[in-house]
Amino acid sequence: MTREQAEKLKQENRRKRLRKKRIKAFTLLALFVVAVVIVLFFAVKGIMYLVNRDDQSEGIESPIGNAGVVDSVGENGEASSDDIISDENSEQPDIEEPEGTDSTAAPDSSEAPTVEEPANTTPVGTKPQQSWSTMLVNQWSYMPEGYVPEVRPISYEGVSPANNKFDVRAADALEQMLAAAREAGYNMYLVSAYRTHEYQVNLFNRKVNEYKALGYDDATAYSEASQWVAIPGTSEHCTGLAADIVSSTWYNYNSDLTHDFEETDHFDWLYEHCADYGFILRYPKGAEAITGITYEPWHYRFVGIDAAKYIMENHITLEEFCAE
Ligand code: DAL
Ligand code: ZN
Repeated sequence: MTREQAEKLKQENRRKRLRKKRIKAFTLLALFVVAVVIVLFFAVKGIMYLVNRDDQSEGIESPIGNAGVVDSVGENGEASSDDIISDENSEQPDIEEPEGTDSTAAPDSSEAPTVEEPANTTPVGTKPQQSWSTMLVNQWSYMPEGYVPEVRPISYEGVSPANNKFDVRAADALEQMLAAAREAGYNMYLVSAYRTHEYQVNLFNRKVNEYKALGYDDATAYSEASQWVAIPGTSEHCTGLAADIVSSTWYNYNSDLTHDFEETDHFDWLYEHCADYGFILRYPKGAEAITGITYEPWHYRFVGIDAAKYIMENHITLEEFCAE
């Protein structure tokens, strides 16, 4: 073999070794990539499993919590925050659907993807307890026989001299509401607050006679009158907790209380702020069948701040509040 041939062979061997090295490196790299892909695949799968498991347990917790709150509602409908907290923290190993609460169960999204959530009709907030201030007086619930509240005159520039007294426990609240209205630029006139039983009898008879003068028979005149003036024994004014309020200039342009009062800014202010002082619009429009009295945008009833807020925010009547 010549020197030249020997050199060629050497180069050829070097090239072969180099090719082998490259193949080896490529194979190792490929194996590494495959290993990384496999590890990533299982890592992602594991994370997905953990996320799904958390989602499912959240879906289960909700109905149990709701059922606990509903069950803890007491005789008067109030649920204490203690009850709610203890239910949330209690262990619930067996998940059973509570009676009558199937609408709270978490729907299986794969079975019913298009079903819409039902409208939430749950009253806003926790219902406050009933007390002296939420006493229900209407034509189906007469005032207790002989009940005479302790009253005092209301201090405000713009009160009827004949009926300017209010239950002593709520008089401050009425004065504060009237003062706040004045401060906001709305001067009010307190038409009628506490009435004696005798006064209500006269008022009612006068209304009955007005209908009779129009040609109504006795029974119809009585029933028509009772929608405007409460039958004696069923007027909230005799409790000392009701106040008829209009603007200070109302009687300059009107001879009576009419529904038009709702068109005034004074009404808007009262409607918006009455609950802050513990008052409700007692005979709302559309609730005549429940209250038994026609819409009275001027008649406000003291029930206490918590009850007032609950009633006004939920757009319910005192009748519905007491029945809950
Ligand atoms: N106007 C109300 C209903 C009353 O007479 O008590
Ligand atoms: Zn009234």
